[in-house]
Amino acid sequence: MDTASKIQKYENITKQILAVVEGEENHVAKMATISCLLKAEFPYYYWCGFYIVDPLKPDQLVIGPYQGTMGCLRIPFGKGVCGTAAKEKSTQVVEDVHAIANHIACDAASTSEIVVPIIRDNKLLAVLDVDSTEVASFDDTDKKYLEELLKRAFT
Ligand code: SME
Repeated sequence: MDTASKIQKYENITKQILAVVEGEENHVAKMATISCLLKAEFPYYYWCGFYIVDPLKPDQLVIGPYQGTMGCLRIPFGKGVCGTAAKEKSTQVVEDVHAIANHIACDAASTSEIVVPIIRDNKLLAVLDVDSTEVASFDDTDKKYLEELLKRAFT
């Protein structure tokens, strides 16, 4: 998708999502709504969902609300793209997961990926993981808008 169309879509969907989740404090309710609305908006989103820091095992992510094919249930910090984003508390953009060793293949069709951490009060709450079946679907535009959306939706 060209950058101008991406920007237009992110601008619109950000407004819509923030309007819907405003005043809602339950994280699962927000995550379910966000994954649903994002997945419906972007044709290149193949899998879109959240991995949440497990309060009982704080060095592990556990699956949260998502849209798409079945995701792995748990991911240890440091493992795969999601585990790296959790450990480093920084967004990861991968052009082709099949070309990197530290990647967890939940679905072989997933090819490019972006993982954005959600930090609240300096603590990692969860990560948003989005996968595409195409190479290099995600770039700085996705990074900028997803980081901004999550910051505003979870403060
Ligand atoms: N590919 C991810 C795992 C999660 S799924 O793709 C849904 C990773 O390497 O972290």
